[in-house]
Amino acid sequence: MRAPLQLGADEVHVWLAWTDAVDPVADARCATLLSAEERARHDRFHFERDRQLYRVAHALVRTSLSRYAPVAPAAWRFVATPHGRPELLPGNGGVPLRFNLSHTRGLVACVVSLAREVGVDVEAEERPGNPLDRVSDHFAPAEVAALRALPAAAQPTRFFTLWTLKEAYIKARGLGLAIPLDRFSFEVPASSSTPITIAFTPPIDDDPASWHFESMQPGPRHFLACAARRRAGETLRLRVRTTTPLGD
Ligand SMILES: CC(C)(COP(=O)(O)OP(=O)(O)OC[C@H]1O[C@@H](n2cnc3c(N)ncnc32)[C@H](O)[C@@H]1OP(=O)(O)O)[C@@H](O)C(=O)NCCC(=O)NCCS
Repeated sequence: MRAPLQLGADEVHVWLAWTDAVDPVADARCATLLSAEERARHDRFHFERDRQLYRVAHALVRTSLSRYAPVAPAAWRFVATPHGRPELLPGNGGVPLRFNLSHTRGLVACVVSLAREVGVDVEAEERPGNPLDRVSDHFAPAEVAALRALPAAAQPTRFFTLWTLKEAYIKARGLGLAIPLDRFSFEVPASSSTPITIAFTPPIDDDPASWHFESMQPGPRHFLACAARRRAGETLRLRVRTTTPLGD
């Protein structure tokens, strides 16, 4: 087992794995890392492509966590919150790790932090229909207005940027859709050196200044967003790295 990787208190790490080219031997090893419960969920998927995404994603969670504590990937134990968010069982590995998982066609992502709330979302651009038809169902009025004010060619990218940011925030909170999607909105600046900000309208029980957001395109057709809670005056450093589901 390799020496644990240091995760600074001000750091958030994201591990990405592309899933379309996982070789059959590695794919089979991913399945061996799953718990009996995960294996049962895996087996319930009807399509092999869904089973493959599931086993690769959950292998990535396990191998990512094992980078930070001397625990074998198959040994991690999880518990779901009442809203369904998986967390590590307290005491697991002796390091207060938090994590979140996202999977989409071709890509899985696992974000890891030390004790702070984090959420990640990845989305693939290909979807049936025009995604822009659904903006008013999912976005706040300010987001819809900002999106529609963009040139048509820029709108799909902004759509997925907003979509992944909204999911990343919801996932970091861990409350699912108990936070209505139109009650919070993102302002995405033109320059990537200016921070992305969130606003709550009307106010909810959360402080917009206590969040750090990042948005990026890890591939030409894939979008990723990450949300992390920060303390007053804290500057967070996000590191995104590509790996394999087995952490090679
Ligand atoms: C389930 C939900 C947490 C994410 O769903 P998703 O984007 O389809 O899926 P992702 O791949 O990003 O995330 C799924 C993973 O999140 C984790 N998860 C499950 N419940 C969670 C919760 N309440 N909070 C955080 N993470 C959660 C799990 O690890 C899950 O993976 P698993 O099912 O393989 O164990 C939730 O946000 C949801 O249902 N969203 C509604 C979708 C929607 O309308 N989005 C509009 C955005 S504008």
